[in-house]
Amino acid sequence: MIEFNNLAQFLDHGWSCINRSVADTKSPGRYPTLATVSEDLLPETRTVVLRKANRSTSILEIHTDTRTEKVNALRQNSNGSLHMWLPKRRLQIRISVFVRIQTGSIIKKRWEEVPQKSRVSYGTIPPSGSVIKGPLAYDQTPSMERFAVLECNVGKIELLHLGKNHTRAVYQAISDWTGTWLAP
Ligand SMILES: Cc1cc2nc3c(=O)[nH]c(=O)nc-3n(C[C@H](O)[C@H](O)[C@H](O)COP(=O)(O)O)c2cc1C
Repeated sequence: MIEFNNLAQFLDHGWSCINRSVADTKSPGRYPTLATVSEDLLPETRTVVLRKANRSTSILEIHTDTRTEKVNALRQNSNGSLHMWLPKRRLQIRISVFVRIQTGSIIKKRWEEVPQKSRVSYGTIPPSGSVIKGPLAYDQTPSMERFAVLECNVGKIELLHLGKNHTRAVYQAISDWTGTWLAP
């Protein structure tokens, strides 16, 4: 089992796991939990798909429907948090993000890249979370107007590795990702 005693190596490992999560549809990291703060100031979580990750820009990308609770929440409070647990790597990753909601013509290219069969996720009628008369009393009409890219700007990454030793560290953009060890 790999052990970490160097802050930079530990962060490299964290990013390598994040990148692999995007590429590997079987990785649990591809399906992180996104936490937001609701309009009532309550915590809300849901599973999402991690679509892209770019260490050099510190941006992660998630796709969603504009008419969802998470988008309402993020319009009021742009702070979110992503969480993943990678059991084979014994690694928990917690990522604090500031989310920009992108819609319209600037994401036209992204929309064109979405496979036809996946587009049904963007355009549910009535909108996601509405009360309906029965389990199938909804339509799915794909619509680019309802498609949103959540551009998640990473401000902080916290890693917890449960190896022979338990190793925890936090890294922040504000301190140029130098990192600090934390008691696990
Ligand atoms: C495996 C899995 C992947 C999901 N991926 C996404 C996603 O990428 N984007 C999204 O908006 N919802 C995704 N969902 C649905 C959300 O978890 C959630 O039910 C939906 O977006 C409504 O959430 P909200 O009401 O908090 O906005 C996914 C659900 C599962 C189970």
